[in-house]
Amino acid sequence: MSHHLVDFIDVSYSYLDGNKAIENLNARIHHGEAVGIVGANGAGKSTMLKLLVGILMPEQGEIRLGDLPVTKKTLSIVRQTVGFTFQDPEDQLFNITVYDDVAFGPRNYGLDEKEVEKRVVSALQTVGIEHLMHRAPYKLSGGEKRAVSIATVLSMEPNVLAMDEPTAALDPKSRRRLIELLQGFKHTKLIATHDLDLVMELCSRTIVLKDGRIEYDGPTAEIMKNTLLLEQCGLEQPLMLQGCPICRQK
Ligand SMILES: Nc1ncnc2c1ncn2[C@@H]1O[C@H](COP(=O)(O)OP(=O)(O)OP(=O)(O)O)[C@@H](O)[C@H]1O
Ligand SMILES: [Mg+2]
Repeated sequence: MSHHLVDFIDVSYSYLDGNKAIENLNARIHHGEAVGIVGANGAGKSTMLKLLVGILMPEQGEIRLGDLPVTKKTLSIVRQTVGFTFQDPEDQLFNITVYDDVAFGPRNYGLDEKEVEKRVVSALQTVGIEHLMHRAPYKLSGGEKRAVSIATVLSMEPNVLAMDEPTAALDPKSRRRLIELLQGFKHTKLIATHDLDLVMELCSRTIVLKDGRIEYDGPTAEIMKNTLLLEQCGLEQPLMLQGCPICRQK
């Protein structure tokens, strides 16, 4: 399944104001891998994912999905292959109803309305928000918007999921449902997040970014034990490894 390979090849990116957000980034992600992308605020996580889906184009280097380079010409195939959820769900939702937002991708593929409806209902059921189908996205709560934004991507049935802070604003039950959903998604997953417990549960590999550079790329179990490197990168061990503060007091 080489076409599902995700390759960042010596990628650098600066924003228009000259801010270098990603520097000489190299990473190859194989089909079926689940990779956590972590790092302090401003480390470059969102920029890395936006480069992957061609929202931003590298100033140097190349990104490939298997044989397919991510360029302006290939954007429509890239977007069908990689389902991307924005850090801020408001960037994802622009239709009048939740239904239309979730139907947007499948309609763009030219699927007939019956198939579109099947996909919309299934995606909404998966994230547990069928009851919001006819609501206006901009009138929803933060967590509900997050769930809709995830549904907009699931309805496209992508081969790669690239999610930016997917658990932010989710209540514990919705977060658990999302983790189970992602565990069931057997294709490639790239998850940028501050939720290191999520990474522990879901991702066997972790990339740690610091100032736009990769500080660590390897097994999640290793980095989560390396408190020194975590601290140097502005991170803390996941709560599940920190022990119970109440028990410790005894
Ligand atoms: N539109 C922009 N214009 C200029 N600089 C930007 C822009 N967006 C991000 N940056 C800068 O690029 C760098 C990387 O930002 P990015 O949003 O990728 O970080 P992040 O790791 O996702 O952070 P967070 O955890 O806060 O979401 C930061 O220095 C940030 O200030
Ligand atoms: Mg971000």
